[in-house]
Amino acid sequence: MYNERTLSGALDDIEMASIDELRELQLKRLRWSVAHCYNNVPAYRKMCQEKGVHPFDLKKLEDLKHFPFTKKDYLRENYPFGTFAVPNRDVVRIHASSGTTGKPTVVGYTQNDIDTWANVVARSIRAAGGHEGDKVHISYGYGLFTGGMGAHYGAERLGCTVIPMSGGQTEKQVQLLQDFDPDIIMVTPSYMLNLIDEMERQNVDPHKLSLRLGIFGAEPWTEEMRKNIENRLGIDALDIYGLSEVMGPGVAQECLETKDGPTIWEDHFYPEIIDPNTGEVLPDGEYGELVFTSLTKEALPIIRYRTRDLTRLLPGTARPMRRIDKITGRSDDMLIIRGVNVFPTQIEEQILKVSTLAPHYEIEVTKSGNMDMVEVRVEMTPEAVDADQNAASKELAHHIKAVVGISTKVNIVSGGTIPRSEGKAKRVFDKR
Ligand code: DLL
Repeated sequence: MYNERTLSGALDDIEMASIDELRELQLKRLRWSVAHCYNNVPAYRKMCQEKGVHPFDLKKLEDLKHFPFTKKDYLRENYPFGTFAVPNRDVVRIHASSGTTGKPTVVGYTQNDIDTWANVVARSIRAAGGHEGDKVHISYGYGLFTGGMGAHYGAERLGCTVIPMSGGQTEKQVQLLQDFDPDIIMVTPSYMLNLIDEMERQNVDPHKLSLRLGIFGAEPWTEEMRKNIENRLGIDALDIYGLSEVMGPGVAQECLETKDGPTIWEDHFYPEIIDPNTGEVLPDGEYGELVFTSLTKEALPIIRYRTRDLTRLLPGTARPMRRIDKITGRSDDMLIIRGVNVFPTQIEEQILKVSTLAPHYEIEVTKSGNMDMVEVRVEMTPEAVDADQNAASKELAHHIKAVVGISTKVNIVSGGTIPRSEGKAKRVFDKR
């Protein structure tokens, strides 16, 4: 299963390759992947034919820009299995992403895909500072969501002991975190906050737990949230990124030695940043929408998939492969408030600057006449119950106005009022 290099904690060869070697491998794999998709998925072939492109046109990596984008609609319109490039009998696993409206998007994996996925997640856990013999408590949901099983197979592949807790049963999670002495926890940052609250409720000192690392992802979170979680738990908190359509968790992972944004495992996932309005490819360093092309996936090759995640590509640091900057948010989560673009993460950043406020919040947008009205509901920290609520609310409104540029009504609510997440938090309620 896992090889000696993984066991000894050394890197995969490709993690140490030169950029030239990496680009050469990418081109070879890209040509295979595009041809595989074109030859085996009629819906994709049709899109290429309409655009007048053929896999033979792919002579260099940049030629990818001539190929059509795929979007969530591509998966929805070919629901459930019309985007698969292999016969159904070769598909050994199905996952699906819930999606709040319409049909779920369905993704499939061959045995080789499952292996690749386990390898990139194992590589991710190792980049985060994990190694063989570590105990990993997994609180990402198991089931159709890719988080739980993706983390699980990767941790096993690295040679870890897995505690497949899944989401929910918060009281019990805290019990097992004390009894089983895990080294690593893998969970959404918002559920981690919920778990920390539960520890406080049970008078469990988080610093006394055996945890050393947290590998957090599946939703946007800020640098301020990292500091908050690291201080409260006494661990290193690392960012893991991924999406079902491209694989699941483990498309990119932040490295412990630099903590400067997730390194994309570019030997399997080729990134581009585009202008979301024109579709034009932007140079590295510029902000735009992240687009991925799978390079090795068999069951569901995905070419130029528009993630709707907004970020930029940065040069490699701990690895030669490029990094993504922390995801600001999805284009669908962006609120336009009286003409100003606002992401929930920007509000989170400001909340965490006010020492008496807890990172439990909701943002509600309504319309009063023609005016957009924003209410931020937020809780105080348990230690600050007797602190001046009025002062805290004024301070937050002031920070938001000064930094984000919008006026808000800040409503301090009592502890426990904001619904707690067991997976991805829902923080925005746009009632316009
Ligand atoms: O959330 C896969 C995953 C599971 C990633 C566990 C990391 C950990 P989906 O449900 O398809 O898959 O949602 C994918 O979640 O397009 C982003 O908008 C968001 N997302 C995932 N990771 C991060 C992250 C999983 N580290 C969508 N930072 C993506 C910000 C993230 N957003």
